[in-house]
Amino acid sequence: MTGLHESVFSWITPRLRQLPWRDTRDPWLVLVSEVMLQQTGVQRVLPKWQAFVEEFPRPDDCARAPLGDVLRLWQGLGYPRRARNLHAAATSIVNEHAGVVPSTLDALLDLPGVGPYTARAVLAFAFEADAAVVDTNIARVLARFHGRTLKARDAQLLADAWVPSGEAWLWNQALMDLGATLCRPRPACDECPLSSDCSWRGEGDDPSVGSAGVSVAQPRFEGSDRQARGRLMKALSELPVSLVAVQMVMDRPVDVAHRLVDDLLRDGLIVRDGDELRLP
Ligand code: ADE
Repeated sequence: MTGLHESVFSWITPRLRQLPWRDTRDPWLVLVSEVMLQQTGVQRVLPKWQAFVEEFPRPDDCARAPLGDVLRLWQGLGYPRRARNLHAAATSIVNEHAGVVPSTLDALLDLPGVGPYTARAVLAFAFEADAAVVDTNIARVLARFHGRTLKARDAQLLADAWVPSGEAWLWNQALMDLGATLCRPRPACDECPLSSDCSWRGEGDDPSVGSAGVSVAQPRFEGSDRQARGRLMKALSELPVSLVAVQMVMDRPVDVAHRLVDDLLRDGLIVRDGDELRLP
């Protein structure tokens, strides 16, 4: 531990955001939260995570359910391939790990939908292992602190070297909150516990722009394929939809609607049953 670590810990202690997945060390519940948080904001995840973990408190509960039930609980989070992958991960945990979420990086990385970020998040936040997570907020902090645009590998190595031994849980949560509240695209350097050692401190070109893992503006949702697919998934979470109705449900021309239906069928997110579509 260095003075810098202590500054960050003093800063975070009274400010750590109270989030229900921070009150558990159950690796399945942590995995579910991290998959949801990959592409969806905290506020939208909160009620969905609660409902999901009530319905599927263990991997086995999720694995035994039809994918359609998992997709119904996912409704409103978007990017439903994540739900399909999480269901497949639950199945793999049951079949290959006796229902217990594995605790090594390699075994976690082998789970469907689990990449370098999510695997390390489970290690740090469930097992309290000395792993460093690099999400979009932390990638921005790292690039600015080191004052250069980083490739993914460099960002991971720098993050790994920065973790104070035995304190990875709080360290990663702190950097996440620091990135979410102070080291924003428009930063609040005056309040930042890293500012005395930060290479950038808000002066000149922002080194996080173009750094690996730092998110760029999302494409427009209104009028997008994602919006149209979302409409169909929402309708299907209530009832099957007749093939002749998809263009109306999606509010798209027939050729677009059919292309999107084909994508969803290919991804295994919907199935065709005669003249109807339904959830798997
Ligand atoms: N985003 C991803 N993981 C998170 C966590 N553990 N807490 C808050 N936001 C997050």
